[in-house]
Amino acid sequence: MARPRIAIVIMAAGKGTRLKSKHPKVLHEVGGKPLLAYVIGAATQVAEPKDVFAIVGHEADRVRQAVSQSGINFVMQKPQKGTGHALMTAREALQPYDHIIVLSGDAPMITPDTIRKLRDFHVSQDPAMTILAAMLADPTGYGRVLRKGQNVQRVVEQRSATSQQLKIREINSGFYGFKVKSLFRHIDKLSTNNPHGEFYLTDMAEILSRSKEHVLSVNVDNPAEILGANSRTELVEIDQRMRTAKCHELMAEGVTIFNPSSCVIDADVLVGSDTVIEPFVQIRGNTHIGSDVRIGSFSVISNCEIGDQVNVQTGCVLEDSHIGNRAGLGPYSHVRPGCEICEEAHVGNFVEMKKTRLGRASKANHLTYLGDSDVGEEVNVGAGTITCNYDGIHKHKTVIEDGVFIGSDSILVAPIRIGKGAYVAAGSCLTDDVPPESLALGRARQVIKESWARQKRAGRAAKKAE
Ligand code: UD1
Ligand code: MG
Repeated sequence: MARPRIAIVIMAAGKGTRLKSKHPKVLHEVGGKPLLAYVIGAATQVAEPKDVFAIVGHEADRVRQAVSQSGINFVMQKPQKGTGHALMTAREALQPYDHIIVLSGDAPMITPDTIRKLRDFHVSQDPAMTILAAMLADPTGYGRVLRKGQNVQRVVEQRSATSQQLKIREINSGFYGFKVKSLFRHIDKLSTNNPHGEFYLTDMAEILSRSKEHVLSVNVDNPAEILGANSRTELVEIDQRMRTAKCHELMAEGVTIFNPSSCVIDADVLVGSDTVIEPFVQIRGNTHIGSDVRIGSFSVISNCEIGDQVNVQTGCVLEDSHIGNRAGLGPYSHVRPGCEICEEAHVGNFVEMKKTRLGRASKANHLTYLGDSDVGEEVNVGAGTITCNYDGIHKHKTVIEDGVFIGSDSILVAPIRIGKGAYVAAGSCLTDDVPPESLALGRARQVIKESWARQKRAGRAAKKAE
């Protein structure tokens, strides 16, 4: 027999009324990524993207765009009249397949192994419908599975269940296998005669079993995998579970995380061994951190590449930047997008940088702003240095060549180039390029008025005596 053709269908068209949000439910984030991204990620590990279909509807363009990289197909469900209606709209797209595996776009903890288990059970047993079921200590909110022996007879939704049925702890996870022919032969029998006025996909269990078709269930090994994010409480519960799992995964790979419950580490973050993460740290997005790094408390790092042996002290905010090996940052440094902090460079307290390269072993240690700057190697940028990169209309570049010494409280009005090995006197305001190896002074000459203070005080005393 030829191998059965199998598609995976992800229901993702719903509004998510219970979240009370202007954003579509499946784009709400857990672990730093949209719910739907996880379900697609698991699905595409089991099937080719060309055999994966997401049913979108509410804010369809936004949803599509958010996951367009995945290369999967989309089916439009407009308006959204329930999970059964979602499958009705996909009828044509699914005709070429023998079986479909249906997943819920709001249940992000599903693993490829469980999808394979559902698929293999469904294909080998060959019923019209297989329900992935779970035994929950608290089944509130989920559809309950009603069965006679092996065979499922019905799924009853929470709002339609009798008090006796509400005691059933075996629930419908919202993941199914269907034989395509059987599903679409009977799907038009669904009705909206229920408390939500929707076409429930779950009613297919009763319709199929009454039509003498087989409906079976298979249990998920880990019930946590099927949790759905229907309310804000459920959403943050899932987020918490994912973050705890992420910290444990990193710790198993040799990362020390002190007080992990206070840290927020996104799903795609990578961290090398012997790196230490202090309490209350956030590491977000696509951040990769090397080995032997220390991340100080209250630092927030997003989408950064950080090398080995880097020391990030308390309270740094680092975004979309590269940090080289053995560099040191903080406390309280703000590295904005587009920076490259090279090996052994130092960025100190209250230093802000944007689109700036700070060369190898260069230092900007105190109270400084470097924007649109290219700083060479072994440069010392004194306390309080400011690059004036913006003239009100355009941004301009500052180039500081190797070995330059910038005195404290200097203002560099861009565009400007400070030549190799030059010195800038403290307190200078420079508007012109500085040739290499020279000294630039851009400030008023100091004037001394001897005895001025004594005379002033004497004058004041005489006035008082009058
Ligand atoms: C559903 C099941 C319930 C099960 C639970 C598991 C039904 C009627 N009930 O309830 O038995 O225990 O999942 O999590 O199916 N969607 C569409 N189009 C629509 C409506 C929904 O694509 O018209 C999508 C949603 O975006 C969501 C998924 O289908 O991703 C499930 O819908 P949801 O409203 O969350 O169903 P539940 O109430 O959770
Ligand atoms: Mg749900």
